[in-house]
Amino acid sequence: MATLGVNIDHVATVRQARGADEPDPVWAAVEAQLGGATCITFHLREDRRHMTDRDLPPLKASVNVKLNMEMSIAAEIVRIAADLRPNQCTLVPERRAERTTEGGLDVVRLRRRVAPAVKRLRDRGIVVSAFIEPIAEQIECSAELGFEAVELWTGAYSHAHSPAGLRAELDRLRDGISVGQRCGLEVHGGHGLTYRNIGPIAAMSGFGEFNIGHSIVSRAMFVGMRAAVRQMVDLLVQFEP
Ligand code: PXP
Repeated sequence: MATLGVNIDHVATVRQARGADEPDPVWAAVEAQLGGATCITFHLREDRRHMTDRDLPPLKASVNVKLNMEMSIAAEIVRIAADLRPNQCTLVPERRAERTTEGGLDVVRLRRRVAPAVKRLRDRGIVVSAFIEPIAEQIECSAELGFEAVELWTGAYSHAHSPAGLRAELDRLRDGISVGQRCGLEVHGGHGLTYRNIGPIAAMSGFGEFNIGHSIVSRAMFVGMRAAVRQMVDLLVQFEP
């Protein structure tokens, strides 16, 4: 089964909405692991709108599976990641006005700024992944820049509704996986994946990891984090290629 990364940011979003100390994203990470998560994903944003610096040491200490930090290439954040040494850093675009990460990082346009961040993190023994759109030029450039993995943005798939639109997005992702594999990259997928749309994506060969946040945390409000993660794991097993 592909690695399931559970993104716990939204738990911290609820906490920050009240400026309180609950719900605790570290507790969510523990529950997610008990439900079968094989990776815990979090995003330390420059504006600290959900996860904060204080969350990082207890999170690192509590996660016994892969720890994946989503992050921008801002110097301050790269320094924090290099000190924390999660297993993996996924470089993402970050715009302050956005509600969530919108689209992939343009590694082609930003290559001069991305390259030193990749080097600094890899020198610390961290696997570095690029969150990019499934476009051959972006994938090939990621390999050239020293990334070991790419996370293909599944947002367009999640927004497609017509059968033809869905087919086109699945084809783009399938092509992206082939290019990634040809370049020797590990290929991940994420963004907008839900209990309802995961089937065709989970059934595709080549995805080694999925990162899912909103849908799992939403369901966790009603059934609890452990059960919500277990239900997603069951779907990944059911649709496994
Ligand atoms: N992967 C990346 C790189 C992301 O930035 C996000 C959103 O934080 C996700 C996956 C999870 O997206 P969603 O919350 O839509 O499942």
